[in-house]
Amino acid sequence: MDTGLRHGCELARDAFDRLHAIGNDGRGITRPSYSAAEDQAHALVERIASEHGLLVRRDWAGNLYVTLPGRDRNLPAVMTGSHLDSVPCGGNFDGAAGVLAAVAVLTGWTRTGFVPDRDVTLIVTRAEESAWFPVSYIGSKAAFGLLTDADLAARRVDDDESLAEHIRAAGGNPDRKDGPGLLNPAQIDSFVELHIEQGPVLEGTNLPVGLVTGICGSVRYRSIVITGRAAHSGATPRAFRSDAAIAAARLMVALDDLWGHLDATGEVMTLTFGVCRTDASANFSAVAGQVEMSLDMRSRDIALLQRVENDVRRIAAEIADRHGVAVDLGARTSSMPAVMDPALLGQTEELAKSAGLPFCQLPSGAGHDAATFAGQGVPALMIFVRNANGSHNPDESMDFADFAVATGLLEKLLRLRSEGRRA
Ligand code: HGY
Ligand code: MN
Ligand code: MN
Repeated sequence: MDTGLRHGCELARDAFDRLHAIGNDGRGITRPSYSAAEDQAHALVERIASEHGLLVRRDWAGNLYVTLPGRDRNLPAVMTGSHLDSVPCGGNFDGAAGVLAAVAVLTGWTRTGFVPDRDVTLIVTRAEESAWFPVSYIGSKAAFGLLTDADLAARRVDDDESLAEHIRAAGGNPDRKDGPGLLNPAQIDSFVELHIEQGPVLEGTNLPVGLVTGICGSVRYRSIVITGRAAHSGATPRAFRSDAAIAAARLMVALDDLWGHLDATGEVMTLTFGVCRTDASANFSAVAGQVEMSLDMRSRDIALLQRVENDVRRIAAEIADRHGVAVDLGARTSSMPAVMDPALLGQTEELAKSAGLPFCQLPSGAGHDAATFAGQGVPALMIFVRNANGSHNPDESMDFADFAVATGLLEKLLRLRSEGRRA
């Protein structure tokens, strides 16, 4: 590792510590999308970038762009980046690893005086975590002008304020969602996102890095409401019950069994009930009158997701009938799967091999902003870093040595893409 990148990595190590204090909720990290904590995290990166003489700008939605200008600023730029918001009570590496790896590379280059042929730009996206607003990839979509008025009207789950209001509060301007200052896919050479794996594969295979082949799409029902009839738990015989709790349990087990069958036949997806709660009036001596739950389904196979969604509707109707309850699936949101660029993948494999770096290829079960770039026709790739304890929990962890190895690979790829005058 050259002195520049070593400097950059040390700077990143310190920045991880400072980030850990931003949005620390005592157990984990809670940096809601478009919150003061996300603002502070962005400001930290902006300060480091300015101190190293890098160019900074923000777009209408508050996404931050940090650029090392190239010799020919008219050439399509090489881009990299990730996000700094987190899920409630999450970890300090989800998104931050990709942002700080890019910071390490760019600040390292300013240190050694490296000047690329084309611009190299880090985008620090807003609101990648769709745990806060019922819209996926808000920041990266905003960057390309893909957000709709309906998206801007979406409300944050904790304060019920609209996305437009939050963007305005963060210093952005929703009236400019259609430009100027939007990203143009034709002006982007490639997009590379480094990210913690968030799953067990790299740990299980004892590999520090992985190259992502594709990103899962999703279909979600964030607020399914099952309405039965609250009744006395002692005085109400079985035949007279419309028990929302039992109906919810049966729906979850039926869908989990469905997933089990698909899994056994090699059809790859995930199906998760992250939220499941009775209503506020619930108590042990009453039959549950209402249950609210969420359903998150993911796969790279969009046809499979559609098939399973049909099954969800059918099974929900059967259970509603059987238990005399109403099952309202509620609002549906979704995101498209994405395939990573084969040429970028091949180039990165060669770089890893020539550096003697062991790696594997693997798909991403989680969603990422790289999917937005790929969806806009930008050649995109993700580099995964091994991490322990998964993610979206406060125990999410990452070895700094693995981060440094992955950042070294990112540096090589960005340098390769930034040199030379390709069409
Ligand atoms: O949910 C996801 O897949 C990502 O963490 N936003
Ligand atoms: Mn992430
Ligand atoms: Mn996440």
